[in-house]
Amino acid sequence: MTEQKIFISPSILSADFANLERDIKKVEDCGANWVHVDVMDGHFVPNITIGVPVVKSLKKITKFPLDVHLMIENPDKYVEPFAKSGADILTFHYEAVKENDIVNLITKIKSFGIKAGISIKPKTRPDVLLPYLDIVDMVLVMTVEPGFGGQSFMSDCAEKIKVIRQNAPENLIIQVDGGINAQTGKICKDFGANSLVAGSYIYGANNIKQAIESLK
Ligand code: DX5
Ligand code: ZN
Repeated sequence: MTEQKIFISPSILSADFANLERDIKKVEDCGANWVHVDVMDGHFVPNITIGVPVVKSLKKITKFPLDVHLMIENPDKYVEPFAKSGADILTFHYEAVKENDIVNLITKIKSFGIKAGISIKPKTRPDVLLPYLDIVDMVLVMTVEPGFGGQSFMSDCAEKIKVIRQNAPENLIIQVDGGINAQTGKICKDFGANSLVAGSYIYGANNIKQAIESLK
């Protein structure tokens, strides 16, 4: 059996915001696959981070796919600006959208020729995603409450991965985000995750290459 590809997406939330280009190059040269961009609006989550203009600038300095995680209310309003600014994967939160609007939102994201992802917070049950597994490209299972980097992994959230994997088409990407390191990443991969986001583990490492390798 060939080894399954694991997509490593370093979160620039733990990078130096005054040196984003330098810090993205650091992970590009060390075996990462994507760049994870955490967009927070101060409403859906208590924190405020970065938005469309930063994504636009990052697009010019990296060839890596931009994996944009929207932790915002009204994601529908921002699909077009983020897609046109260079997001390659656009993930919104299930909790931020009315159930009746979810299919349209996924369709809208895909209409820009990019990948659509849907994410659930720790308290949201995985079954709510079952109706969408055939139409999204990625599911993001949060293993911390979204809002901040450097929090501890919630192991009970990881079990949701199993439910999703069991019901998913073969090519669905299942990503985890929050408190991921070599140990917690392994737990998630064993449950069926094939993309790991890591911020503090990667950017806090003395040896970034080793840290990324340890996640694969
Ligand atoms: C948290 C963000 C994460 C964050 C992860 O709300 O979505 O992407 O950067 O940080 P670590 O890996 O430090 O838990
Ligand atoms: Zn994230």
